[in-house]
Amino acid sequence: MTNPTSSTTEQEAIIDGIIASSLQAQQKTGPDLRQIHSKSHGLLWGEFIIEPNLPENLKVGLFKTPQTYPAWIRFSSGGSPEKRGKFHSDSQPDVRGIAIKVMNVEGQKVLDDEEKTQDFILNNYPTFFTKDVRDYADLSQAGSGQLSPERLEELGYAFAILQKVVSHKVGNPLLIQYWSMAPFKFGERIVKLSVKSQQPEQPPETLPESENYLRETLVKYLTEEGREASFDFLIQFYVDDEKTPIEDHVQEWQEVDSPFIKVATVRVPSQKFDFEERKRLDEGLLFSPWHTLLEHEPVGSVNLSRKRLYSELAKYRREQIAQRLQEPQPYVAVED
Ligand code: HEM
Repeated sequence: MTNPTSSTTEQEAIIDGIIASSLQAQQKTGPDLRQIHSKSHGLLWGEFIIEPNLPENLKVGLFKTPQTYPAWIRFSSGGSPEKRGKFHSDSQPDVRGIAIKVMNVEGQKVLDDEEKTQDFILNNYPTFFTKDVRDYADLSQAGSGQLSPERLEELGYAFAILQKVVSHKVGNPLLIQYWSMAPFKFGERIVKLSVKSQQPEQPPETLPESENYLRETLVKYLTEEGREASFDFLIQFYVDDEKTPIEDHVQEWQEVDSPFIKVATVRVPSQKFDFEERKRLDEGLLFSPWHTLLEHEPVGSVNLSRKRLYSELAKYRREQIAQRLQEPQPYVAVED
């Protein structure tokens, strides 16, 4: 396995920079909202059902014994708020995310801020859009005018992937496939994850007019029509650096080199979810790939950057939510 592309101190400096610019952006677009993936289409309750009869070598960590765990599942769009107080329309091209928080999980955890949860976070595209965290940091500064033309040219590949990532038309977030993009431990081995709908739909030709059609589609499907949805929870194993690189996050792990294996089912029963109390819970929850058992620890530079980042931004978000109630602040002009 190759070594990370930049030294640890350089990486720490890059991560500090991402945290600082993300916090700055969060203060502008909505301190009590997530800086990105801020628009939620629904926080749903569900079940995480470990596959029965797994072979011995797959009985690892969360997948050790066949059982059904309760779970919270959040569907989101990847972008930041358009401006303070306004989300982008769902018809705006964007990446779509799923975040799963499995609960009542026993075992030693990597972080101690949540005792019995195991989170999985995925997006609707097989690869990340930068090969490592250094390119991610520079890409997010592309519009600042600070990057040299040579550096912008080097990042051309990332712009091209980003175009592809956001161009996928999604009609119903329950009927598509998601990927972890970054690798994780599976005991002694390394995997990437995927969550694939058991009722996949073809990408729609045209999208509904409504700015919030993704949430409205979930309400229609789960609440009004009383239907349920299920996903296969899949893993694919690291083979070697050439076929399944750890540190090059834009090279897809091809199924022909490393087939997906089903280890669980994610079930989303029909339910009512579009109400204020649920939205308030949604606002406060933190989904982080570092909310994990030791056996499923995140791997690689991109995942490393998410360790402090997600926690610090959520800490700031929660402080803002608490503060606005504890010590009400004067009205802040929201551009209408
Ligand atoms: C350097 C890389 C990355 C950065 C800087 C980053 C940044 C963030 C931030 C700031 C949040 C909001 C956290 C919060 O306030 O709760 C977030 C959430 C999220 N990120 Fe990332 N992320 C990165 C990589 C990834 C990758 C590789 C994925 C792949 C699946 C991903 C998927 C998501 C999803 C789905 C959410 C929403 C979680 C929720 O619903 O609460 N991110 N990310």
